[in-house]
Amino acid sequence: MDKVRITAQDGIAIVTIASPPVNALDAALRAGLAEAVGRAAADPDIRAIVIAAEGRTFIAGADIGEFGKPPAPPSLPDVINGFDAVTKPIVAAIHGAALGGGLEVALGCHARIAGPAAKLGLPEVKLGLIPGAGGTQRLPRLIGAAPAFKLMAEGTPASAAEALKLGIVDAVVETDLLQAAITKANDLAAAGTLRRTRDLDRRSAAGGQEAFEQAAAAALKRDPALPNIAALADAVRATFTERFEDGQALERARFVELVADDRSKALRYAFFAERESARVAGVPKDTAPRPIGQAAVIGAGTMGAGIAVCFANAGIPVTVIETTAELLARGLDRITQTYASAVKRGSLSAEEEARRNALVSGKVGLDAAAEADIVVEAAFEDMDLKTEIFGTLDRVAKPGAILATNTSYLDVDRIAAATTRPDSVIGLHFFSPANIMRLLEVVRGAKTAPDVLATGIDLGRRLGKVPVVVGVCRGFVGNRMLARRTQEAERLLIEGALPHEVDAALTGFGFRMGPFAVSDLAGLDIAWRNRKALGQVAPVADALCEAGRLGQKAGRGYYLYPEGARSGVRDPEVEALLARVSARLGVTRRTIPAEEIVERLVYPMINEGARILDEGIAQRPGDIDVIWLNGYGWPAWRGGPMRYADSIGLTTVAERLEAFAAARGEPSLAPAPLLRRLADAGQGFADLAAAR
Ligand code: 3HC
Repeated sequence: MDKVRITAQDGIAIVTIASPPVNALDAALRAGLAEAVGRAAADPDIRAIVIAAEGRTFIAGADIGEFGKPPAPPSLPDVINGFDAVTKPIVAAIHGAALGGGLEVALGCHARIAGPAAKLGLPEVKLGLIPGAGGTQRLPRLIGAAPAFKLMAEGTPASAAEALKLGIVDAVVETDLLQAAITKANDLAAAGTLRRTRDLDRRSAAGGQEAFEQAAAAALKRDPALPNIAALADAVRATFTERFEDGQALERARFVELVADDRSKALRYAFFAERESARVAGVPKDTAPRPIGQAAVIGAGTMGAGIAVCFANAGIPVTVIETTAELLARGLDRITQTYASAVKRGSLSAEEEARRNALVSGKVGLDAAAEADIVVEAAFEDMDLKTEIFGTLDRVAKPGAILATNTSYLDVDRIAAATTRPDSVIGLHFFSPANIMRLLEVVRGAKTAPDVLATGIDLGRRLGKVPVVVGVCRGFVGNRMLARRTQEAERLLIEGALPHEVDAALTGFGFRMGPFAVSDLAGLDIAWRNRKALGQVAPVADALCEAGRLGQKAGRGYYLYPEGARSGVRDPEVEALLARVSARLGVTRRTIPAEEIVERLVYPMINEGARILDEGIAQRPGDIDVIWLNGYGWPAWRGGPMRYADSIGLTTVAERLEAFAAARGEPSLAPAPLLRRLADAGQGFADLAAAR
């Protein structure tokens, strides 16, 4: 099937792009587009051209899957520059997302008309790139260097209304987009003047070069690990100093360099891994999810309230259920406060606040779950309590309703066994704060029905989450791997590292926060209670808790938090405590280099990831990476732990793990069988994914 159709209507050629699913500009589409525009340009019966598209997007950009492969002509810059040579007006009719190369195509037109659902953006930075088909040169000339830079540096698309305000589009029409574009094309043809974006000079709009330089300096400070922001600033700066052609040559050279950079490869890998994770074995693509029109959340603590906010944000009415009127009132207050502070910050309108609050209601007692299509239990982490709740829910909830647990550690199958409908039971593991964090682990029980899993995934998307299906085990994927890191972090302190050294090693690796700063923020007491319940010991963490150092809320934990301070400072008392613990355990403290700290923290996690894969708890290495990227702050440009392991080489990872296991006399640190097998075969986790 042709990816581009051309029809004519009263002297206007309508070039329609139809390349499902998202009209990505692969080689065939680029050739088809160039050919269609060329044909219309040469046709004496044609006065003007409209470029429109079919399907769920206008054009989603360059075909990301083609990057890194040998280039196939025509290149996108050549196609778009070809528009510049056309002497008839070209108008873009943008009904949906025009992203990256898609917006660059539209910028190569002489006018742009958008529908209300259009989204316009240059999100290349999110892939570690910069626009590579004239975007850095045309957008500043159209709307001003400073706003253009901001749009490209943030990578977040503008809505149709915002794009109109910025001057990216000429008009937004509520209905009959194609007709509006044809009218515009006719008007431009009648006027006889061609307004090429490359010839415009609005570079200095909105604050001039000074405002652009300020925006560039601020962006460079935010993410110094990524080379593309500097490249973007150079390209936009060139609009002030270079001719269009030279600016475009600079843009292209930088783009090509960045495509080859491993950081961009990792980000592109993550893009596809996230989409791949939606494909779940045993759940055919056409499995219809159960309709979810009404939700209930059990427990109105921080987690329950956050989950209720997720439902209300997605426009789904939600009943919050508590055991007493007092707890309920406190929970509902949490929810209204969340919205009130969003309004105060300016991220939510008062109207929207009222609409969302109206979707939330509260009741005491589980009977209130009777009308819900899905019930999410977010009560205490206690198996007896959960089985009791699920037993009652089974009697109360309507037939077909899905019963979900937000447990972070407990056995979903045991919870499901408390009901007569284990096929309708699922785990939905939200991450705190639930209304902010993107990850959702969708836990598949032994008896969970395929359509219930499909509903979990679909619902996750509706709530704006990245859902990843995992199997039942203690801690599922994310927390099970995190437990390995926590254990090693404690060991490092005993051997001689100091909390700030461990944290600095991990922030140096790219995490926003180190493990001890995170512990202090979260509070040390919950983990302490869990250890006691399980009969586990962590000499340093236990000693801190016993000394009342429960973290930031106590003013002291691994660090000291002087009155009013937001981040902790080194505390000699903690260092003395560490010396005492090491001495008591007969350990001679030593200085541990940052590189070793990173290996000690990260390799055991990778090892656990290998066990998780072997057990089938995660379906593919990419799923584990998606979990760590979206739920645990793994630096995006390192692509997740499993891809990182591949980049190091599994032989090296296995050798280091062997050395750690021998040094510590700790067999659980030795390479897991799967890691061993892959390393011996000279393979990586990626080979495993390809083979499945
Ligand atoms: N290239 C290749 N494949 C793409 C793609 C792209 N640009 N955009 C989406 N796809 C694929 C996805 O992998 C997915 O494939 P699958 O069904 O086999 O898993 C399918 O299209 C549908 O994608 P989504 O599941 O993401 O669909 P949504 O409807 O949820 O979202 C979207 C649509 C908002 C367009 C989203 O896909 C998206 O953000 N795409 C990427 C946009 C982007 O980054 N564009 C810039 C590319 S770089 C560029 O243009 C360089 C240029 O300057 C030269």
